[in-house]
Amino acid sequence: MQVLTTVAEVRAARRHLSGSVGLVPTMGALHDGHLALVRQARAANDCVSVSIFVNPTQFAPDEDFAAYPRNTERDLELLAAEDVDYVFMPSAEEMYPPGFDAAVDMGLMTERLEGASRTGHFFGVATVVLKLFNIVQPTRAYFGRKDAQQLVIIQRMVRDLNLDIEILPVATVREPDGLAKSSRNAYLNAAERQAALVLWNALTLAQEMWTRGARDAETFRMRMRDLIQAEELARIDYISVADPTTLEELRRIQGPALVSLAVRIGRTRLIDNITLGG
Ligand code: PAJ
Repeated sequence: MQVLTTVAEVRAARRHLSGSVGLVPTMGALHDGHLALVRQARAANDCVSVSIFVNPTQFAPDEDFAAYPRNTERDLELLAAEDVDYVFMPSAEEMYPPGFDAAVDMGLMTERLEGASRTGHFFGVATVVLKLFNIVQPTRAYFGRKDAQQLVIIQRMVRDLNLDIEILPVATVREPDGLAKSSRNAYLNAAERQAALVLWNALTLAQEMWTRGARDAETFRMRMRDLIQAEELARIDYISVADPTTLEELRRIQGPALVSLAVRIGRTRLIDNITLGG
């Protein structure tokens, strides 16, 4: 496994590769969710590249950029064990040299859900992912369904900007009790870890309601809100029942529906989602 830190090194390595290249973009603090992406990339490509870059431009000034968990040594051990070929670990200066002033604007869909609470977040995400695509030039890139809106926006970017890259979605990896694996789970104390289960419980409730035939979207939002509000440590950021491709809120569920939510547990903001009828 080679660890590369500059764009020039990645380009030089890329020139010698002939087969397919799978890219897994990450911000490190790797867990089984990330590793599921890496395994899927490993199974389908001649070469696997993983990027580790805690991207400053996708964090708002009041967010957890400085505190975001970093554990490079352990990350590299995990990736070596997965038989990864290249790890790209640039500095912030390498990605954003002095005078950098570009941004990819993916339009209306970046303002909904996460975008409504995290202004500018998806400018940062789309811009860094496009840069990573241009630097690594992968055949395929792997994204988790855990970040459903991010996945939709990247798929739309590939379509709208005619990028010759296949985007492969990977199912959300969960703890045995249902909590979605996340680097931010490390912030939770024992009581908060217990309370964090409300996200999964609310999604399970939505799944049960759908199975029993409920289709009025507002009823889903209300029942999920009631369930979460009963948990003292939880503060709802949003609960959404939306069209999975446009992310527009639904009134009635007629086709597939993306049920997603963001909830603060103490000071930690967690997100999760499921797709109904998908
Ligand atoms: P990060 O949060 O590190 O996640 C990297 C990838 O792992 C994303 O595609 C995310 O959806 C996926 N992932 C995280 N938890 C998962 C889980 N429990 N199950 C399955 N997949 C999971 O997402 C980012 O980084 C950044 O925004 C990035 C795309 C790297 C751009 O900076």
